[in-house]
Amino acid sequence: MSKITIDDLELAGKRVILRVDFNVPLSDGRVTDDTRIRKALPTIKAILKKGGMPVIISHIGRPKGKVVPELSLAPVASHLEKLTGYPVSFISDYPDRDIKFRKESILLLENIRFHPGEEANNDGFAEKLSRLGDSYINDAFGVIHRKHASVVALPKLFERPAAGYLLIEELKNLSYLVSTPKHPFLAIIGGAKVSSKIGAINSLLDKSDTVFIGGLMACAFFRALGVDVGKTPVDEKSVELASDIIRQEENFEEKLLLPVDSVVSSEKPEIAEPITANWDSTPRDAVIYDIGPSTVGMLSSEISRANTIFANGPVGIAEIDKFSIGTREILLAMAERTKEGAFTVIAGGDTLAAMNRFGIPEGSFSHISTGGGASLEFIGGAKLPGLEVLAER
Ligand code: 3PG
Repeated sequence: MSKITIDDLELAGKRVILRVDFNVPLSDGRVTDDTRIRKALPTIKAILKKGGMPVIISHIGRPKGKVVPELSLAPVASHLEKLTGYPVSFISDYPDRDIKFRKESILLLENIRFHPGEEANNDGFAEKLSRLGDSYINDAFGVIHRKHASVVALPKLFERPAAGYLLIEELKNLSYLVSTPKHPFLAIIGGAKVSSKIGAINSLLDKSDTVFIGGLMACAFFRALGVDVGKTPVDEKSVELASDIIRQEENFEEKLLLPVDSVVSSEKPEIAEPITANWDSTPRDAVIYDIGPSTVGMLSSEISRANTIFANGPVGIAEIDKFSIGTREILLAMAERTKEGAFTVIAGGDTLAAMNRFGIPEGSFSHISTGGGASLEFIGGAKLPGLEVLAER
């Protein structure tokens, strides 16, 4: 790695601003999946071991510069205390507060996205934040593609902004997908953040042999092809982007796979009775909630042939059993293929939460990536603004 890392920093007696991605699912004020928090522990512990005090910054959700109480990081503070065994003080009144060094303790700041300056990458806001620390480390791979103040403007104010262990590990493992992947290379893309992921499909089509599109993103492609998706909510911008991809990609039909059937219902998912419908016969009043059994069969045989597999985002509603069969079968087939020697990566917060929900051990895959959008951008060869600003060796 050409960047300065935590190992290069002298941290004794220093307040260390640590940007992490603690964008974890919460329910009734409790953390329901802590994978992203656990993945940041080696860096947090190393700062403490070196005699520094971690001043942790994270976002959760997309509050758009406003205080949204349900998106408070307060529940994460108590969870972090349990995981580390160190006292964690939760600070909501920053950046106007002076922070003193305290040995063997951790500070966690309230959701950085409650401040409009964060997403605006505002220099004044970054300058105020910089007064909270003496050093800066980025371990937030999940937002490394975002041009936000705590990721870009803030590290620029430090002499040697460095990478944390999670960031280093992510870059090392994901590099394999872009450098010398063994073919056939299969990419499976789903998830809810359609507009922020769809742009990466073009470069995935270049790098891999087959791209399967599931979930809401598949509906954007169906709409672009003039296929009715009933009442499934698809934004027009995504449909336009899908149309562009279809127009530009000469081998579209050979390389891009779409579901051949879906699980649908006209009821809300919690009370719905799942019905299987062909790709071209979604009932007018129905919503698509998962990929169907024939699609699962088709995809399982693609997985069994692939030597490199990258899966990003659930292909159905992963939190509801009856609509998570597609996602579960994909993950199980990938785990099997990993045992047979394939290099497999699953990526994104929702995918990792699904893995844990299905009781599939983390070690079943070659790498689990905490970044959904970030891993796609990295594989697509985009410059990552948060990485660009870290100091070179
Ligand atoms: C993620 O969940 O992928 C990261 O936390 C980034 O979140 P964002 O897409 O809201 O920037």
